[in-house]
Amino acid sequence: MPPEADCRRCRLGEGRISLVLFSGDRDSPVALVGEAPGAQEDRSGVPFVGRAGKILDGLMAEAGLDRKKVMITNTVKCRPPGNRRPRPDEMAACRPFLREELKGKRFVLALGLSAAEDLLGRKMTMKEACNRPALTDLGDGALTIMVTYHPSACIYRPAAKDVLRDALKEASTYL
Ligand code: URA
Repeated sequence: MPPEADCRRCRLGEGRISLVLFSGDRDSPVALVGEAPGAQEDRSGVPFVGRAGKILDGLMAEAGLDRKKVMITNTVKCRPPGNRRPRPDEMAACRPFLREELKGKRFVLALGLSAAEDLLGRKMTMKEACNRPALTDLGDGALTIMVTYHPSACIYRPAAKDVLRDALKEASTYL
């Protein structure tokens, strides 16, 4: 079940234009989980259509991963004000919807540390966690979670592109 159209489970509901739910294939074995919608996603209601989305699209194409064949979503479905990171209580309020979206997945790529910490329930550094697949269970059977760079990180850190591209290639092997 997606959130109600007038969801106010957390403060993010007060400022949003759109609820940004997943895009792509609901039944795909692969999901990419970002942090939160930005301004363009809030306007369009579709995840990863702004600047970070363009970077992601380019790297997905290079990795041979078809956007239509995976599910793309975020930890929270409403844009945080000023594009700040979602807070723990906001991610907790939205977690039932994320978990519902991820049911039946075999491989989940966490794009950035917000998604990683939401999915794995602990703090970590990118250095320790990056591109290391971990077999886990979100309550619905075994699946692999891999943490990697958020596409926005590639803007300031060119080396992140190679790491994210490798992670997307790994995701493609689950299709
Ligand atoms: N950044 C994200 O984490 N998600 C989006 O949907 C857009 C930008």
